[in-house]
Amino acid sequence: MCGIVGYIGPREASEVVIGGLQRLEYRGYDSAGIAVYDPEAGLQLRRSVGKLGSLVARVAREPAQGHLGIGHTRWATHGGVTEENAHPHRDASGAIVVIQNGIVENYLELKARLAAEGYSFQSQTDTEVIAHLVGHYYRLEGGLEPAMRRALAELRGGNAVVAICAHEPGHLVAARLGNAGGVVLGLGQGETFVASDVPAILDHTRDLVFLEDRELAVVSAAGARISTLAGEPVSRAPVSIPWDPVAAAKGDYKHFMQKEIHEQPRALMDVLRGRIDQDGGQVHLEDLRLDDAALRRVERIYAVACGTAWHAALLAKFMVEGLARVRVEVDYASEFRYRQPVLGADALLLAITQSGETVDTLAAMEEARAQGVPSVAIVNAIGSQAARVADAGPVYLHAGPEIGVASTKAFTSMLVASYLLALRLGQARGTLAPAQVREHLQALVELPGKAALVIERATPLCEELAERYHRASDALFLGRQFNYPIALEGALKLKEISYIHAEGYPAGEMKHGPIALIDEAMPVVCIAPRDGIYEKMLSNIEQVRARHGQVIAVGTEGDELLAAKADHVIVVPATLPLLQPVLTAIPLQIFAYAMALRRGCDVDQPRNLAKSVTVE
Ligand code: G6P
Repeated sequence: MCGIVGYIGPREASEVVIGGLQRLEYRGYDSAGIAVYDPEAGLQLRRSVGKLGSLVARVAREPAQGHLGIGHTRWATHGGVTEENAHPHRDASGAIVVIQNGIVENYLELKARLAAEGYSFQSQTDTEVIAHLVGHYYRLEGGLEPAMRRALAELRGGNAVVAICAHEPGHLVAARLGNAGGVVLGLGQGETFVASDVPAILDHTRDLVFLEDRELAVVSAAGARISTLAGEPVSRAPVSIPWDPVAAAKGDYKHFMQKEIHEQPRALMDVLRGRIDQDGGQVHLEDLRLDDAALRRVERIYAVACGTAWHAALLAKFMVEGLARVRVEVDYASEFRYRQPVLGADALLLAITQSGETVDTLAAMEEARAQGVPSVAIVNAIGSQAARVADAGPVYLHAGPEIGVASTKAFTSMLVASYLLALRLGQARGTLAPAQVREHLQALVELPGKAALVIERATPLCEELAERYHRASDALFLGRQFNYPIALEGALKLKEISYIHAEGYPAGEMKHGPIALIDEAMPVVCIAPRDGIYEKMLSNIEQVRARHGQVIAVGTEGDELLAAKADHVIVVPATLPLLQPVLTAIPLQIFAYAMALRRGCDVDQPRNLAKSVTVE
């Protein structure tokens, strides 16, 4: 959740570190801080409550000079949003500073022990415990690296930790414990970078090394020496990440979310690129490590995910069951990991995750592995933990970096990737003949163009709708069958960025509760494309109208009947029913964006949320 950056090299560390934090601010924005070392000025800490801008202003007033530095953006877990709780945290001697992403689960126990030994604490954070522990062992061991090893061996939980020491200005030490926080090292020419996520480094280098669980790196300007926490040397070649740094910048757009909504036609093309053979009626997923025989053996699939990705999982179930006739169960990853699931033989775990770092999703993958069940990850972030631990291979979205906290292009790309996986399964299992696959592929290749049309048409209409409805306190989103997950997603988008209370509901269930809430002030978004369940949806719309709800319908272009029944209609082009959600989701993203903008909300960094959720 928190963002971590470190730098050592010839440049001004504060500039590089703050530049990196700007790219990571989506991970947390309660407070931020840096520590920079200079032989004359010593260790200089600057911390500030609020968004990164306030730290930038602070550093402008009180510059911090030096060529070794670390920085952190915080998403508060332990202790309120105060300057004392902002990272970095110092040890008792003041010579060591530490930043952390994750949770130290046994911090109370460690804190009590340290307090009994005379340590006093300036903050309520779990991270300060690490700082004191490292300082404690530094005095015994006389070096930062062995001190980190001993301190980290005592932590329980998942953490990414980076420390520097004023007595050892030639390096910083970074480590990863568990799945709660990624650590990536960027190897430059005479300079080295550390970060919790790739975008922080992309401006400087694409040669990256990812730390694995329980590994530690001693990072100097010349490179990094990696070993396990136990001290075994690790040799790992850098991987080269193809992401373009420009893709991680906002460009001419006002917000990342707006940019990412507009990138969807391209993203939908990229997820298909190189994977389809239209003539042969074949799908090829390059990294999937399951051949036809293995795909035929799969008896059931457990789809696990969180947040928006969970909505994609709900749709993946329809796709896989519909096209490949394999049974799919969908779970919230946070529930799956603790429900002691009985997976059985011939099962497959399907993890869906944009970041590839969501701790609950990773834990679900671990649970599967413990039961001998292979995992496939539909994942965006290249080289992320989920991509690496998916023993049956990643299926990359190739959507490029997604920075806006509210997921947009990753979501629609997840739907297409799930569709490809369903086709691949169907092809191997003989539920789809090549001619049928061809028909699906034709619909897929037409999707990017249709998505572009939706964006163009829906944008002005959603601005009008926002003008009219931005004062609403509640909203209801209704859909059925394939568009029920889209109702959930539309409601999630609206609530997370505009703070309007919104509920997504299966339209047929409305009469069992939510109908009591409908009055003339309530916008009710009804997703009603012309599909097999269209007429049922129309009846539900009538039920809303009879209670004087304001009907905003999302329907198929040319549908006069729907236009006559709704107060407002946003039309989308027709496509195959199972792909229609890709197109019906987009106007709801644009609607949420327009509403949030009209209400003056911070669209890219909504309160209390974070992009990568690396704590439970
Ligand atoms: C957070 C983000 C959501 C995202 C969810 C799952 O809640 O704000 O946008 O859908 O995490 O993240 P993942 O990276 O696993 O898709």
